[in-house]
Amino acid sequence: MEGIHRIGVMTAGGDCPGLNAVIRAVAKTAMGSYGWEVMGIEDGFLGLIQNRMRLLNNEAVSNILTTGGTILGTNNRVAPRNYTVKLDGRVETRDVTDRCLEHIAHNHLDAIVVIGGDGSMSIASDFVRLGINCIGVPKTIDNDLYGTDVTFGFATAVSIATDALDRVHTTAASHHRVMVVEVMGRNAGWIALHAGTASGSDVILIPEIPFDIRIVSDFVMGRARHGKRFSIVCVSEGARYKGGKQVISRIDPSSPDPVRLGGIGEAVAADIEDATGIETRTIKLGHVQRGGSPVPADRVLATEFGSKAIDLLAEGERSRLVVVRAGVVTHIPLQDAEGKQRLVPIDHPLIRAARNVGTCFGD
Ligand code: F6P
Repeated sequence: MEGIHRIGVMTAGGDCPGLNAVIRAVAKTAMGSYGWEVMGIEDGFLGLIQNRMRLLNNEAVSNILTTGGTILGTNNRVAPRNYTVKLDGRVETRDVTDRCLEHIAHNHLDAIVVIGGDGSMSIASDFVRLGINCIGVPKTIDNDLYGTDVTFGFATAVSIATDALDRVHTTAASHHRVMVVEVMGRNAGWIALHAGTASGSDVILIPEIPFDIRIVSDFVMGRARHGKRFSIVCVSEGARYKGGKQVISRIDPSSPDPVRLGGIGEAVAADIEDATGIETRTIKLGHVQRGGSPVPADRVLATEFGSKAIDLLAEGERSRLVVVRAGVVTHIPLQDAEGKQRLVPIDHPLIRAARNVGTCFGD
């Protein structure tokens, strides 16, 4: 097994709180415990394609543990196999994988730590098949990465969404309104399920349980009849009506995952107001859920993940995904996570607990 002297680290895909904590742990462990050099690759795979990377030192990764975003920048539009270029006003798609391999060789990178979601792990697996050593670190606020019980960023997103739901609760009660809060999560309802339960939302709508709007409206009316003239509805952006489709807010053709969900909250609010006659307002939380300082649990998990990624390389591992299972940080083959999403099982104990305390899931 060849030794490691220099590694690259990148953050790829959508940003999420805790990315800087991982970069810090990766760089400090690699430099401090093993004496390796660390190159920070800018803007995810785009930096690899364009050969934009810089040597990180202790100063570069100092004071970033608590900061949101990523000091390296990120990009959720680029896949080396389908790189979009504009030529004379025409858009062309090219496979620039060879260019990435050249840049990896040119910069003497013996391995790359890819901090990303499912799309980034698929690209990393592709590089492994071409002989590049890659260790994956799972990130996403959506908590939908296969193979790990939890991703860092999720706890912070849940905390932000819960705070928003708590605040909306008091104003809804004062004005006797229904408030519909749309949260992120793509096709997985983890954020809605956790934030909805933590805030005591009356209705939680998740993609895994298509809902019947009549059941939701009847539930809201039932509360009003019992003196609760307000209701809080926490809806996941990927939720859909029974027999209906997910609501798409935009299509980004330059992205490997072009569908952007959003807008279901407005539709649900309009239908509830029509059916109940109770004033119903909507809030779409959007990117606020991804911003700002990570909560302590995410800082801890990010630090454990970053440190583990480097220990794995030092132990001779060349294609692993760092994961946490039953509270223990461990690892699985990188390709195991490729193209898979971890959705909420409909028999999940938290759904049962929420139902037991009276939450309506619209089914
Ligand atoms: O995957 C994280 C996430 O925030 C999803 O919850 C959301 O659907 C998506 O990214 C939004 O992507 P963008 O930042 O490209 O709008």
